[in-house]
Amino acid sequence: MNQWQQDAWKFIEQKTYINNERIGAGFPHSVKNKHYVLESPQWWTAGFWPGILWRVYLKSKNESLRITAENCEEKMDYLLNDVELVDHDLGFMWTLTSVANYKITGNSKSRKRALLAANLLMARFNVKGNFIRAWNPWNKDDDNRGVVIMDSMMNLPILYWASEETGDPRFRNLAEEHAKTVLSNFVREDGSIYHTVIFDPETGEVVEKTGGQGFDVNSAWSRGCAWAIYGFTLSYKYTKNVEMLNAAKKVAHYFMANMQGKKYPLWDFRLPEDGSIKYRYPDSSAGAIAACGLLLLSKYVSEFEAELYADEGENMLKNLYLECATTGDLEEEGLLKHGTGHFMQQKNLDVPLIYGDYFFVEGISILNNEKMLFW
Ligand code: GLY
Repeated sequence: MNQWQQDAWKFIEQKTYINNERIGAGFPHSVKNKHYVLESPQWWTAGFWPGILWRVYLKSKNESLRITAENCEEKMDYLLNDVELVDHDLGFMWTLTSVANYKITGNSKSRKRALLAANLLMARFNVKGNFIRAWNPWNKDDDNRGVVIMDSMMNLPILYWASEETGDPRFRNLAEEHAKTVLSNFVREDGSIYHTVIFDPETGEVVEKTGGQGFDVNSAWSRGCAWAIYGFTLSYKYTKNVEMLNAAKKVAHYFMANMQGKKYPLWDFRLPEDGSIKYRYPDSSAGAIAACGLLLLSKYVSEFEAELYADEGENMLKNLYLECATTGDLEEEGLLKHGTGHFMQQKNLDVPLIYGDYFFVEGISILNNEKMLFW
């Protein structure tokens, strides 16, 4: 284990203990003036803080972290009683809370919650289009019945877990069908991705591809690429469908090539080349997610490729630690500077983001020989 990896873990532990006292069982999302702004438990990011607590607990066994993580999980229970309050992010939210808790402690209540979440996610499947519907209407007149987004790939592991846990193949089969739909409609020839595809909910035909959180429809939102690297790798882990592995590799190569020697990625790899710096925001969260994806990808490929992906994943985490970590600033609650949440809505630009922090923690814990993945 390298010195920088040990230092990075110490930094993570120190911040997490301080944040446990300050944030407690809340749902942080992005940082303003050094402090995390809290969201409702309904927001898609609800699982990331408890996920950090569980990852640190894995090594420290500090009971106070476990108790806070379980309090967060309980605070999310009302959502599971109302199908109109949950969307496809059920995967993100209950993987890092209930699945994590069950895998670590065997908590039977957590197992039930996670299975309920998997059932609710499965119920969003559209059989004509073979996709899991992303969102409910945000506003009264929205029609989101056919919307699918790239991020959905990270919501599939709770379905794969449910099949393993119950022996019922339905969850896994349905997740694989969704992954195939995403593969054939989102991944471009060059390895970049579309963020959002809209299908006709009645026929399943593609209606439109849109820019989503990217700069425009043909741009390459870097966090979306990162979700694809990790998401397709995870689908390969559970299905052994080699098309998933190839998709992960294709996007990984696009991502690595577009780092262009930078320490951490820009929020979109295909920004206008008019010399303007007004669009050129960083997104450290994309780097952290991609790094975790690359580390896992390295486990499923031949020797030489394995070295390429493992080195790139490790390097990315090292650069994030050296360039973005908020070391030496105990007032700052975020772990990683330079995340960009939603450039197109001008929200959360160049700030710490809880999902960037989570994947940084996950990546460093894997480098420090922790074997358990919650996904
Ligand atoms: N849509 C989730 C994200 O910002 O990555």
